[in-house]
Amino acid sequence: MNTAPNVFTDVFSGAKLGPVTLRNRIIKAATFEASTPDALVTDDLITYHRLPAAGGVGMTTVAYCAVTPGGRTEGKQIWMRPEAVPGLRKLTDAIHAEGAAISAQIGHAGPVADSRSNKATALAPVRFFNPIAMKFAKKATRDDIDDVIEAHANAARIAIDAGFDAVEIHLGHNYFASSFLSPLINRRTDEFGGSLENRAKVARGMVLAVRRAVNDQIAVTAKLNMSDGVRGGISLDESLQTAKWLEEDGGLDAIELTAGSSLVNPMYLFRGDAPVKEFAGAFKPPMRWGVRMMGRKFLREYPYREAYLLRDAKKFRAELTMPLILLGGITNKETMDLAMAEGFDFVAMGRALLAEPDLINRIKADASVRSRCTHCNQCMPTIYSHTHCVVTGAPDHVPAS
Ligand SMILES: Cc1cc2nc3c(=O)[nH]c(=O)nc-3n(C[C@H](O)[C@H](O)[C@H](O)COP(=O)(O)O)c2cc1C
Repeated sequence: MNTAPNVFTDVFSGAKLGPVTLRNRIIKAATFEASTPDALVTDDLITYHRLPAAGGVGMTTVAYCAVTPGGRTEGKQIWMRPEAVPGLRKLTDAIHAEGAAISAQIGHAGPVADSRSNKATALAPVRFFNPIAMKFAKKATRDDIDDVIEAHANAARIAIDAGFDAVEIHLGHNYFASSFLSPLINRRTDEFGGSLENRAKVARGMVLAVRRAVNDQIAVTAKLNMSDGVRGGISLDESLQTAKWLEEDGGLDAIELTAGSSLVNPMYLFRGDAPVKEFAGAFKPPMRWGVRMMGRKFLREYPYREAYLLRDAKKFRAELTMPLILLGGITNKETMDLAMAEGFDFVAMGRALLAEPDLINRIKADASVRSRCTHCNQCMPTIYSHTHCVVTGAPDHVPAS
């Protein structure tokens, strides 16, 4: 349960996340690693997470463990299957040895899935063109929806077998569940379209299926869009209602609040510089030329500021009692303290920990330490090769502190 806003909550104090106790309230947010060429754990992936674990986070999040092969944003991503368990177990053991917990982000990318590299059909609320795959996602049937929901439960069971402490269900960024929530994308007229109650059925169904599968063996969190940042997309009011239902359903131990759409407005997630040239460079012609020409429309620039999602997140904090995780532009101790003072139970950090995996230990030793992340966002296109920070070289070259 969330305690009332309290300026004295120390971000470095231990905290319960459902059945799990974290050594502090700082979570490494999912940043897709691009370290799994055979869709299985590699030593590279282990290093990627061992560094922030050794660097002091309470919990690290393995990005995008897809629930089915067709639910991946590209065909080299791990999908949760028995064959992946021995490698995942090696990974969770390595993180536990550093004193941190580890969560698996489980999800289905829906219209964002790359059916070409997955060699499997993508699914969406309606037939939908994916410009990266240059293919259409199929309109999901009722059976497809049931299968995706059940696949989330299976993925959570696999996470338990592999030694994870938590799963984070992806309900954001216009992936499968989020695309159903979006009135812009979800134009269905059946029981999954129309009213918010109908559009929220997939997200709520996934959470309850996962909860039933895990009981209280591990923690269950969700990453939920507060808004898509797109006219006609998921709005703050609708998302708040969805969050209230998720709270009432009782399936979640915490919600991590995010925003933006990988499909139509990715920069709303990040803020800061839009790396159009570098993004285009990640593709081969003619896609490269298309991205160069259309890039500014797709990668819109938004000013960056610390805790840029706080204003919206406070509206959720005011109306919900369950634990909430603040994300977006958290890079230093003052911002962490602000998040605690505003009543958030945890903070999640992406880019700053990608740039400097040891940042948390350094902040703990000296609260005046500042992040070297410049929110240039050039780490973003590196997800198409091998994710790293172009400023510090981490995680391949651990920056000297
Ligand atoms: C290189 C990179 C990869 C990312 N991959 C994922 C991902 O796989 N899943 C996800 O939910 N968010 C992903 N994100 C978004 C982050 O989790 C986070 O929401 C975002 O970076 C904002 O937090 P920050 O300001 O602390 O970086 C990614 C971000 C970056 C920079």
